[in-house]
Amino acid sequence: MPNIAYISNLFLPLRSAKTSITDRGYQFADAAYEVVTFVDDKMLDFDLHIQRLWRTLSALKMDMPCSPRALELLTKTLIQKNYIHTGMIYFQVSRGIAPRSHIIPQNMTPVLSMICTRLKRDILLSPIPKALSVALSADLRHKRCDLKTVGLLPNVLSLDDARINGFDDALFYDENGCITEGTSWNFWILDKDNILRTRYLDNHILHGITRHTVMKCAENMNLKIIESDITLSDIRNAKEAFATSASKFAVPIKKIGDIILPPDNPVTLTLRQAYIDYFLQPNKS
Ligand code: PDD
Repeated sequence: MPNIAYISNLFLPLRSAKTSITDRGYQFADAAYEVVTFVDDKMLDFDLHIQRLWRTLSALKMDMPCSPRALELLTKTLIQKNYIHTGMIYFQVSRGIAPRSHIIPQNMTPVLSMICTRLKRDILLSPIPKALSVALSADLRHKRCDLKTVGLLPNVLSLDDARINGFDDALFYDENGCITEGTSWNFWILDKDNILRTRYLDNHILHGITRHTVMKCAENMNLKIIESDITLSDIRNAKEAFATSASKFAVPIKKIGDIILPPDNPVTLTLRQAYIDYFLQPNKS
């Protein structure tokens, strides 16, 4: 029984149909998908499914992999090559392959892939389908930022918007107007009372390793640290603000939205040096 898939202009056996490890679909979940069922060679609502795929791609500012008409022809060819008359076809379009970077590269060639699976016609069309029992589960989608998953698309799109608007990066706030974290870093302020403040750990932020180590350095410097909510009003009154991550260490922030922070960052820069020394000086770490 053939099991033929389509990827990047080729029809191949499923096991040979591959993309690169640097495909943005894999690295950032930077991809859209659609599923269409067909019965006796008839596609069910093909046009509506493809319109929705196109709508998603356009919201992601992603190029279309081909015309809807070409996609329809590819779909029919794939189904024929698999000798399937009743089944499902799955389309995925990733932004494409490029060296890993949160910044969306220009002129990407999208990677279109398709797989097709057979469905049992009598079960699919049964007038009395088997009823399901379902468990209740809190909807935590997009609320598990504590997991370092490749689901980075919101981060990537926010960074892209920030850069389009002339900023270097983006800082997230929650529905209560409190800061969570940056697109790929944790956020800190030195408040008006000289207290270092960063958001408490829960499922809404990544539990940064650099955050942890910078906190140890701050404790060694006898700085007072509070893990708390940080509001825009706190930022307006802050003496310093900075970002921490494995690639940034601790980097000052000079502007947040329309708020300009004081130009000097003595505490941030001392902490940054303490962080570097923590690893690089003998007898430490
Ligand atoms: N980013 N928050 C988010 C959303 C992150 O993606 C990261 C890390 C951090 C800081 O975590 P750490 O201190 O462990 O690096 C906070 C890395 C640099 C990345 O995705 O490339």
